[in-house]
Amino acid sequence: MKPLRIGLIGYGFMGRAHSNAFRKVGNFFDLQHTPVLQAVCARDAAKAKAFAAKWGYQSIETDWRKLIARDDIDVIDIASPNNTHAEIAIAAAKAGKMILCEKPLAMNGAQGEKMVEVIAKAKVPNMVWYNYRRIPAVTLAKQLIDEGRLGRIFHYRAKFLQDWTISPELPQGGAGLWRLDVKVAGSGVTGDLLAHCIDTALWLNGSIDSVTAMTETFIKERKHTLTGKVQKVGIDDASAFLARFSNGSLATFESTRYARGHKALYTFEINGEHGSLAWDLHDLHRIQYFEHADEGRVRGWRNIHVTDGDQPYMKNWWVPGLAIGYEHSFVHQVADFIQGIESGKPAGPTFKDALATEYVTDAVLKSARTHKWEKVKKAR
Ligand SMILES: NC(=O)c1ccc[n+]([C@@H]2O[C@H](COP(=O)([O-])OP(=O)(O)OC[C@H]3O[C@@H](n4cnc5c(N)ncnc54)[C@H](O)[C@@H]3O)[C@@H](O)[C@H]2O)c1
Repeated sequence: MKPLRIGLIGYGFMGRAHSNAFRKVGNFFDLQHTPVLQAVCARDAAKAKAFAAKWGYQSIETDWRKLIARDDIDVIDIASPNNTHAEIAIAAAKAGKMILCEKPLAMNGAQGEKMVEVIAKAKVPNMVWYNYRRIPAVTLAKQLIDEGRLGRIFHYRAKFLQDWTISPELPQGGAGLWRLDVKVAGSGVTGDLLAHCIDTALWLNGSIDSVTAMTETFIKERKHTLTGKVQKVGIDDASAFLARFSNGSLATFESTRYARGHKALYTFEINGEHGSLAWDLHDLHRIQYFEHADEGRVRGWRNIHVTDGDQPYMKNWWVPGLAIGYEHSFVHQVADFIQGIESGKPAGPTFKDALATEYVTDAVLKSARTHKWEKVKKAR
């Protein structure tokens, strides 16, 4: 087994999800490389040390530049807030490191383009953590669509609903609440939650040509954790848009952090000429599948529990009927990244793939301002 020495930046929610995946992947997938938890980087040395001890990292850094300069790191894994992605990824690429970067790729399309340019020049393996592609039921949906089972696609419908920012007392900015600070997050639910829906949609149903959107910021001012002052809120609290895909299908996308009762309700439904598919993150192991060709008397929605060995990723886990969870999508992503390095066929989404999502979110935010249909920039 060849070591793949990881340098992780950020030890929050995603730092834990990634570390868990690096630790588990070698136990469940047959790979020639094994991730080695070489160093974790965070600005607070005591917290970084505690994280390193808990997860098994061999060393710490408090400045990501020092981490990138180290000869004993092969992969830089960026799990820090959105406004840090570009600078770190560009420096890592220039240093010849492989890069795993959290989503969204960048603060906007223009910044994403620079990242893609530098990465292409550096020719380093790269991937963006749009992990929902690797939930077995979602991967199965991709297989069924690619096999043509749905036929011509007419409709794509996606939602990502949460309810955690309803209180006006909730501050913006700082650790844990950087998502409410537009300077750190880039945008609100559009870049945070809809970016996931868009990545999945582009993967399943191809490119989007144009969008028309509306966004709203329900709470206009919040106290900023870092300054202590009440400041304008610059993020979109809710975002909804209509889209036309290049294949002629029509779509609706909606996301909000004000849907009381919903914690992370990511759902999508696709309607085609011969069949339909529906998926729900709260029941992530199931795909609902309707096939019109079924004999009329027994025709209906099939509720497929995706746990069999011939279904995506599942032969690597337990026995048929036994479920895996959210965290396993990250294990699958690491497995695919490593297999991509070994086979020379890079696994997506690469930085270039993720740039397409930036172009859609840019067009959504622009349309919300102009109140017009906006064309989505085409990926080169
Ligand atoms: N793929 C997914 O499903 C998913 C889910 C959640 C978050 N994310 C993305 O992951 C990234 C991190 O989100 P999170 O939820 O883990 O956030 P978090 O707030 O839980 O953790 C962020 C971490 O980054 C660290 N950090 C901030 N600035 C830093 C700097 N300059 N140098 C080093 N470390 C720094 C913080 O100390 C913290 O440890 C974001 O880009 C977010 O959009 C993706």
